[in-house]
Amino acid sequence: PKVTYVSDEGEVRVVDSAVGDSVMQTAVRNGVPGIVGECGGVLSCATCHVFVDEALLDRLPPMTDLEDEMLDGTVVDRCPNSRLSCQLKMSDELGDLRVTTPEAQE
Ligand code: FES
Repeated sequence: PKVTYVSDEGEVRVVDSAVGDSVMQTAVRNGVPGIVGECGGVLSCATCHVFVDEALLDRLPPMTDLEDEMLDGTVVDRCPNSRLSCQLKMSDELGDLRVTTPEAQE
């Protein structure tokens, strides 16, 4: 599946992801700017904040209480379509995703 990353300035990068990799890992492996992923994906940094395309929100796995809590500590304030991208694992069932990265993560 593919992940489309849109920067806060509207720059678009489309990347092939490996099934099982998270949206955060896919960005880091491919040098996509705008996602840091400092904690490596264990829900302790919130530097992997993304805004998910509204049309895709229903397809995502529900967020855990911990993810919800961590989203209160992002550098750019959360929105209704905010998720932590380390919690979004790519799969064929989930299909292609499109996310916008915030202006800053740290
Ligand atoms: Fe740290 Fe997602 S990478 S919370």
